[in-house]
Amino acid sequence: MPPPVTPRDSVFLKACRREPVPYTPVWFMRQAGRSLPEYLKAREGIPMLESCTRPELVAEITMQPVRRHKVDAAVYFSDIVVPLKAIGIDLDIKPGIGPVVADPVRGAADLARLRPLQPEDVSYVTEAIGLLTAELGATPLIGFAGAPFTLASYLVEGGPSRNHERTKALMYGQPELWAQLLDRLADITTGFLKVQIEAGASAVQLFDSWVGALSPADYRRYVRPASAKVFAAVAGYGVPRIHFGVGTGELLHDLGEAGADVVGVDWRVPLDEAARRVGPGKALQGNLDPAVLFADEAAIREKTTEVLDAARDLEGHIFNLGHGVLPTTDPGVLTDLVADVHERSRR
Ligand code: CP3
Repeated sequence: MPPPVTPRDSVFLKACRREPVPYTPVWFMRQAGRSLPEYLKAREGIPMLESCTRPELVAEITMQPVRRHKVDAAVYFSDIVVPLKAIGIDLDIKPGIGPVVADPVRGAADLARLRPLQPEDVSYVTEAIGLLTAELGATPLIGFAGAPFTLASYLVEGGPSRNHERTKALMYGQPELWAQLLDRLADITTGFLKVQIEAGASAVQLFDSWVGALSPADYRRYVRPASAKVFAAVAGYGVPRIHFGVGTGELLHDLGEAGADVVGVDWRVPLDEAARRVGPGKALQGNLDPAVLFADEAAIREKTTEVLDAARDLEGHIFNLGHGVLPTTDPGVLTDLVADVHERSRR
């Protein structure tokens, strides 16, 4: 088989489109950053949010895992709160904590602060992706954004939250205000994804990381309309749309129905069972437990085999972890995993 010449012909995009592939493509959520020594060196003394606004630095960090691990796709280095910062929300990313919002969103008066995102608000994204597509060649770039529910959780709680109690209080107690909040976030997210696609991203992933906190009925009532609005708004570009959340075993079908082409699965549901839940017509992405990478080589190999075996009959499988790379993961283990999946999935 001749080497691919454009991202469109890449093994990753073929798998997203459920076309035959010579081997299973691999990338890792949170593959940029984390424990990579070259990342820590590049970021030295530069706060996280500032680093996201420097095109050369973003391009360099995005490229690092591609060079090192030979993954089949790059994922744009940014954060889900970057578009919120870009429209003027006062927030910061605190080391060891995560996003912290100065004035949380709690009432109707706060909605006005969530204005639509204009491409000029994130001109550094367009610039960084221009640099990246030139350097990536045939390797696809995945753009991403936070889904309305997960963004709302940070905005309403004011930071990371275990139980999402204030978010749920708003959702159940003031459903009309909640719907307006999620609708505004859908527009911001859509704007951020469009900028990335128009600049050259070959696929997009919508991270609804914390939506597993909801029951299926509540997901459909309170969240799915806003996520579906995002997916519908970018459908016309024809780039694969990936949808991911953690602890979403009971929501897998609904996550697909929101309008995804590829459903991301965490490690709690085997991929053959996930395929039954999602239903036909969608590719799956996942789902090795990121904590497995701390076990010895034989154990990692065994758990990888379980994932590949469960994915054997899928039409369209992208190998990934069931959630992001954990910060203290040995980078060498990731490099070996990419090679192992490529080799053992070859057909
Ligand atoms: O992990 C996920 O569920 C993915 C979705 C998500 C991202 N950021 C995407 C991201 C979520 C939920 C966040 C919020 C966030 N931002 C957290 C989690 C806090 C919590 O609630 O538990 C944290 C710690 C941040 C701050 C942050 N984001 C840092 C310090 C970095 C750089 C280095 C690192 O540690 O990863 C990021 C980058 C980031 N956030 C990427 C993505 C997809 C980088 C691109 C990549 O490598 O995939």
